[in-house]
Amino acid sequence: MVKVFVVYDTKYGNTKLVAEKIVEGMREVGGIETAISDVEEVDLETVADYDAILIGSPNHWGGPVRGIKKLIDKLGKLDLKAKWVAVFDTYIKGDFEKAVKKMEKRINEKTPGLKLIVPGLSVKVEDMKGPIVEGELPKCKEFGKKIASKLKT
Ligand SMILES: Cc1cc2nc3c(=O)[nH]c(=O)nc-3n(C[C@H](O)[C@H](O)[C@H](O)COP(=O)(O)O)c2cc1C
Repeated sequence: MVKVFVVYDTKYGNTKLVAEKIVEGMREVGGIETAISDVEEVDLETVADYDAILIGSPNHWGGPVRGIKKLIDKLGKLDLKAKWVAVFDTYIKGDFEKAVKKMEKRINEKTPGLKLIVPGLSVKVEDMKGPIVEGELPKCKEFGKKIASKLKT
């Protein structure tokens, strides 16, 4: 079975919800073993044993939060089994630079061995604390399904 680890950071819970929906989508496809963790509790030795890593962050000041930047830097120093990666973010405004782009760039610099499964997903929230804008959650599930299908082929 393909093993996928999902790690996220969240201040108000929205990015966590996105991560959970993505996992739901992957499980619906089946044939994928999933694990999910808050970045503050993540065991990097465990992550290193997975085939794919999904990384999610709220957009803070046009980029990912510090905890996620540090995670990406640490992954670059590990002997990773993983070959695949995908990222997601939550944001309130459309005119800022997307955190997913910054995450993808940082991953490319720090862990060049990881290839993108799909382009990053940005999920809009109504306000600082959420909730997630209507119609966005189904996209998260679809994102998970797409990732699972791609990893299985
Ligand atoms: C300190 C701070 C800075 C933020 N900066 C941005 C920003 O630059 N662009 C944006 O779209 N949203 C910004 N936001 C809104 C967050 O993206 C929003 O709070 C987040 O998506 C909620 O996710 P969470 O519930 O997982 O924390 C900011 C929020 C905080 C708390």
